[in-house]
Amino acid sequence: MSAYEIEHHLYDVVVVGAGGSGLRATLGMAEQGLRTACITKVFPTRSHTVAAQGGIAASLGNMGPDHWHWHMYDTVKGSDWLGDTDAMEYLAREAPKAVYELEHYGVPFSRTEDGRIYQRPFGGHTTQFGEGPPVQRTCAAADRTGHAILHTLYGQSLKQKAEFYIEYFAIDLIMSEDGICQGVLAWKLDDGTLHAFNAKMTVLATGGYGRAYFSAASAHPCTGDGGGMVARQGLPLQDMEFVQFHPTGIYGAGCLITEGARGEGGYLTNSEGERFMERYAPTYKDLASRDVVSRCMTIEIREGRGVGKHKDHIHLHLNHLPPETLHERLPGISESARIFAGVDVTKEPIPVLPTVHYNMGGIPTNYWGEVLNPTPDDPDRVSPGLMAVGEAGCASVHGANRLGSNSLIDLVVFGRAAAIRAGKVVRPEEPNPELNRASLEAALDRFDRLRHANGTVPTAELRLEMQKTMQSDAAVFRSSRTLAEGVAKMAAVAARMDDLKVTDRSLIWNSDLMETLELANLMPNALATIVSAEARHESRGAHAHEDYPERDDANWRKHTLAWVEGTSVRLGYRPVHTEPLTPQSEGGIDPQKIAPKARVY
Ligand code: FUM
Repeated sequence: MSAYEIEHHLYDVVVVGAGGSGLRATLGMAEQGLRTACITKVFPTRSHTVAAQGGIAASLGNMGPDHWHWHMYDTVKGSDWLGDTDAMEYLAREAPKAVYELEHYGVPFSRTEDGRIYQRPFGGHTTQFGEGPPVQRTCAAADRTGHAILHTLYGQSLKQKAEFYIEYFAIDLIMSEDGICQGVLAWKLDDGTLHAFNAKMTVLATGGYGRAYFSAASAHPCTGDGGGMVARQGLPLQDMEFVQFHPTGIYGAGCLITEGARGEGGYLTNSEGERFMERYAPTYKDLASRDVVSRCMTIEIREGRGVGKHKDHIHLHLNHLPPETLHERLPGISESARIFAGVDVTKEPIPVLPTVHYNMGGIPTNYWGEVLNPTPDDPDRVSPGLMAVGEAGCASVHGANRLGSNSLIDLVVFGRAAAIRAGKVVRPEEPNPELNRASLEAALDRFDRLRHANGTVPTAELRLEMQKTMQSDAAVFRSSRTLAEGVAKMAAVAARMDDLKVTDRSLIWNSDLMETLELANLMPNALATIVSAEARHESRGAHAHEDYPERDDANWRKHTLAWVEGTSVRLGYRPVHTEPLTPQSEGGIDPQKIAPKARVY
């Protein structure tokens, strides 16, 4: 029996994470009268959603014709035909409803002259099933859309009496003997106490794992905590090879310049002053899908047409745009460019480089957010008591590549869907089953082992090795050689987890221990990524394999599953859902429109 004292809490639902999806789920649960706790390692409005700039996609049609069928088509094509069709339909169909709800909750969207929600163009969003001009589909609050959404959802959740446990770090899931999730064990960072949350439904809304890479637009807390917790319970991660590089990270700093900048008329040039995207994507140019733009920029640099002393980056021009537009629509990135690149955007181009931005892969779920524990006979088997939403989850709505502004809409559509589902399956009138002591003890033992880790490798040193390996071997372009090297290097890096040294043994504000717990979460995510990437012998979406440059639907239109145990990763696969939810006769999309074809912009 462990020496730690535990404070116990009883809830219907515990949500782990307070970004956009976590707060939308929390709000939706609390609105239905479910006793809801949200635990978060950072203050809710500091969650990474606060950094989302350009906007949230929904076919409102405020700026011209649009239709959810077109949004669905663009999402299917953007996913390079790896997304699940039911989930993609749900996203596109429910998006307008979810955005109007946000408006009514109080999100201060930018407005058109006649008072409607302002929408801007974003990469890969088109009209007429990709045959028409770019569409203005991305609803924006200037270039601080995530900030506006997060503050509104937090206020609304408090109004609905959701209970927040702020600066609590979730250590591990607690599972019953028969595999039902019963809640989480968490560590309160400011006083060192430990807390067991017993809940009938646990929702992982822990965000992505961008920090497995050296240069990422993701905030420091993006350490894949949900993926780590799930992997330790023997559940798989899905499609982890698909890591999105955002084309316009500020050179050197990595922080983001929104795609909205190109939506408002910005463009990229190489060292010859050429608008090179016109060559690669003659129709949509700088507004091609972002995996395409990132690859084109990388090719320009490789072929010697990068800008700067080392010819190692690209220029983004906004200096031709009216200063009023920059002030009104892009104030945040104008400030970021000044602070992080020393650039006055009204006069000079911004130096940019593709930067890790988003994980398409994550914890497999259905479109209600229920976590899946697939078997060959039942690839859609639900893991009871557990949900995952937002970037932590993989519904799979983005497939092999996510379109810009489809992330914020994913957060609110699927946060909301999880709440709707929980309202149906959670029974508030029933008592919570008692926690499985063995599972709780196992979580405490792991915590204690890491707290007293007394090897030779400092956490920061091992984290840097992992980040550099991932950055060089699982990059925008991959090859059999880099991936094989990466798999071997990552196995060696992961093996050194047993030799970690934690210097601070205290329990109060122990950042050494917290970063060690985070590294223990990053590691399975990183391993699953590189091993899944090495195995996928094709190019699709963000996975650009130089030895297999074509998409291969016959062999590879399937989801990768990765079970991580220690340093070893076992792979399996599950089929992609290819059927829409709504028959065409009842207003659904024409299935012919979304049949696989070459993906050109
Ligand atoms: O460029 C951006 O504003 C990012 C948006 C997104 O990733 O959805």
